[in-house]
Amino acid sequence: MEKKLMILPSLLAADYGCLAKEIRRAASAGADALHIDIMDPHFVPNISFGPDIVSLVRRVEPTLYRHVHLMMSRPDLYLQRFAEAGAQTIQVHVEADCDIHNALRHIRELGAKPAIVLNPETPVERILPYLSEADEVLVMTVHPGYGGQKFMGECLEKTRYLRKIAPHLDIMVDGGVNGETAVKAVENGVNMLVSGSFLFAKEDMRKAVEALRNRLETVKREGEKA
Ligand code: DX5
Ligand code: ZN
Repeated sequence: MEKKLMILPSLLAADYGCLAKEIRRAASAGADALHIDIMDPHFVPNISFGPDIVSLVRRVEPTLYRHVHLMMSRPDLYLQRFAEAGAQTIQVHVEADCDIHNALRHIRELGAKPAIVLNPETPVERILPYLSEADEVLVMTVHPGYGGQKFMGECLEKTRYLRKIAPHLDIMVDGGVNGETAVKAVENGVNMLVSGSFLFAKEDMRKAVEALRNRLETVKREGEKA
């Protein structure tokens, strides 16, 4: 099945001194959605945003799709808060300390799209029991917690496998995505790409998103022909 290619700038890499302006910049760059990273310091060695930042995105750019990545030990306790704040897709980690089936079901009941995430060291088999309940799988290509890390190419074995067994699924990578690593990801079955530091560092984000999209569409078409 033909899966739409999507590019999602990650707000984590924005200039927090002018967040509203950065949100507008991502929207007018033609981003398919904005990726919003929520971290608790139990799950990762860092702290980022809370639900108020998700509402800020909704207020600043109501039509920009809000894609929320919960790097939390107990995401189950906060699903309603994030849904009410305007999260439209909610991603939970398979490594979280809660009942994942329940969490995915709850996200759907709240009117958002459920997605499942796995860390680089987690075997792909761990997410297989959840595939029928999730609209999307995120294969982390860095250890979560920080932007600006190096892409772990070995994780693409997982995306290749998932594309083979679940052609209908949206498959995403997050971490270290730039012009080169994005091509490798798409060659290995990925159709959704989160990119933080690479896109936000660009003076002209619109041009960068457009160039990336054109390049990836070509790679995808060539892959489909082969
Ligand atoms: C990392 C976050 C990513 C991060 C990616 O824990 O989940 O979304 O923003 O940043 P880059 O693209 O700079 O690796
Ligand atoms: Zn993320």
